[in-house]
Amino acid sequence: MKVLLFAGSLRKDSLNKKLVSVANQILQDSNIETTVVDLQPLEFPVYDADIEAKGIPLNVQMLSQFVNEADAVIISSPEYNGSISSPLKNTLDWLSRTKPMNLAKKQVLLLGASPGELGAMRGLLHSKIPFEAMGNFVYPRVYGLPKADQAFGENNKLVDPKRQENLAKLVSEFIEHCKNFN
Ligand SMILES: Cc1cc2nc3c(=O)[nH]c(=O)nc-3n(C[C@H](O)[C@H](O)[C@H](O)COP(=O)(O)O)c2cc1C
Repeated sequence: MKVLLFAGSLRKDSLNKKLVSVANQILQDSNIETTVVDLQPLEFPVYDADIEAKGIPLNVQMLSQFVNEADAVIISSPEYNGSISSPLKNTLDWLSRTKPMNLAKKQVLLLGASPGELGAMRGLLHSKIPFEAMGNFVYPRVYGLPKADQAFGENNKLVDPKRQENLAKLVSEFIEHCKNFN
């Protein structure tokens, strides 16, 4: 079992990158092989068919290769204006143009973090739509972390032990689901 993780945010101090890191720690503690990708240095251009006509950007091809090597994908994304974040949508649009389209049929778990009260939940529900359009299996349960600006503690863990436990439980349920499926 190999899991690819990335955040649907680019900025260095992203709360969602921190949540990816906590999820990654949970997986590593269970001896699951992981790859964590930071989208910021990949600098995908905004999708443009004229750019595509000259060739899919090499960094998109590289991410597609990481997707290919993974059995499952875990993404933590903010919501932008109550919906999917633009970096995540752009990434999915580019990945959908790769041939073979390695993301198709991969198992996907969606997490989200926001300083607000709703923990990016509205965005997560919208984020399911493009994945499902691409043929992915999106795990029916998602995890939203509210007040995420105050949620991260030492040792790659959430301050609130109950939230940490809920996240670990969801990640492990997802992995069991993927084992049965693959
Ligand atoms: C364009 C934009 C729209 C946003 N819309 C929402 C929103 O609808 N709901 C919300 O909880 N936070 C919203 N935020 C705040 C983000 O949740 C916050 O900036 C968060 O830290 C972004 O995630 P990151 O830390 O992983 O980059 C928005 C931020 C931006 C830049």
